Amino acid sequence: MRKKITVIGSGNVGASCAIQLAQKELGDVVVVDIREGWAAGTTLDMYQYTPVAGVDAKVTGGSNYEATAGSDIVVLTAGFPRKPGMSRDDLVWANYDIVKGTLEQAARQSPNSILIVVTNPLDPMCHVAYEVSGFPKHRVLGMAGILDTARFRAFIADKLGVSVEDVQTLVLGGHGDAMVPLVRYTSVGGIPLTDLMDADTIQALVKRTAGGGGEIVKMMGTSAYYAPAAAAVQMVEAILKDKKRVLPCSALLEGEYGIQGLYMGVPVKLGAKGIEQIFELKLTDEESAALNKSAAGVKEVVDLMEPKLAEVRAARG
Ligand code: NAI
Ligand code: 2OP
Repeated sequence: MRKKITVIGSGNVGASCAIQLAQKELGDVVVVDIREGWAAGTTLDMYQYTPVAGVDAKVTGGSNYEATAGSDIVVLTAGFPRKPGMSRDDLVWANYDIVKGTLEQAARQSPNSILIVVTNPLDPMCHVAYEVSGFPKHRVLGMAGILDTARFRAFIADKLGVSVEDVQTLVLGGHGDAMVPLVRYTSVGGIPLTDLMDADTIQALVKRTAGGGGEIVKMMGTSAYYAPAAAAVQMVEAILKDKKRVLPCSALLEGEYGIQGLYMGVPVKLGAKGIEQIFELKLTDEESAALNKSAAGVKEVVDLMEPKLAEVRAARG
């Protein structure tokens, strides 16, 4: 039987996600949006794309959550993107209600699904998804690290004039400007980056990576979507094919890296169960300090939401 994937939100990220899921034949795709006609129309267009592309995937859409019942994976992209001058954290109250409202319905329809959160502010919204769904922590995770890592990889490859495929790196921390690109874990075809570039050039690329989302918002007036969608699809593929890929994702930390009860970007093993392992690295003092700074930023937003999260927990019983 084909797998079933729900994508909530048929905006820029959601639509890009849906078409890429179909293109990769990862399963049938149901897209839900409050803009019922838009979701129905764009998905009909996508389904009519499948014969041309030569792929078998039913793509449907609308505003009805019953159509999502029994999904294996739910990708949450509904919510406001930022505009120039805004931080991701500025979206917290606008997107809190959307994440809560949509996931209450989606989790009810697909109680055994794995939730992949994309909506910003990413790490805080993972907390909302975790509390609202009541799912175990290995089935609620967030997409950010693959995107942030992809940006660092692309900048390095461009600077060196090499294939993006040969650049390996890791970005830890919250999905904000205080994220932590790890130079020590960066290599090009197995060669440490520090053997190929001087320290000032590396630091300039680290800075550009941390501000990589904002760079695009400034140009477009809204946020990126092709790379974010591809990153979410890579997570779906790792899970549905039980690939056991090692990828940076936002996961609930309960003591790992000395961080308690906070969603943060860390390397995880992604397979059929969702997060099957969290990899804990031995960080230098400087890297730990940067990670703690990033964690403090995420915690500040989560603490603001705590009274509402407590209500959700109490209502769940
Ligand atoms: P968009 O504005 O193009 O699409 C958002 C969609 O959500 C719209 O179609 C809207 O109708 C829908 N929506 C709003 N309220 C809804 C509700 N209650 N139920 C169902 N659908 C609802 O925005 P875009 O560019 O697709 O971004 C979506 C979210 O993803 C934003 O919060 C953005 O910041 C975030 N994002 C996160 C990234 C990450 O790395 N984690 C990367 C890129 C975007
Ligand atoms: C990004 O980094 C907006 O979080 C999104 O592009």
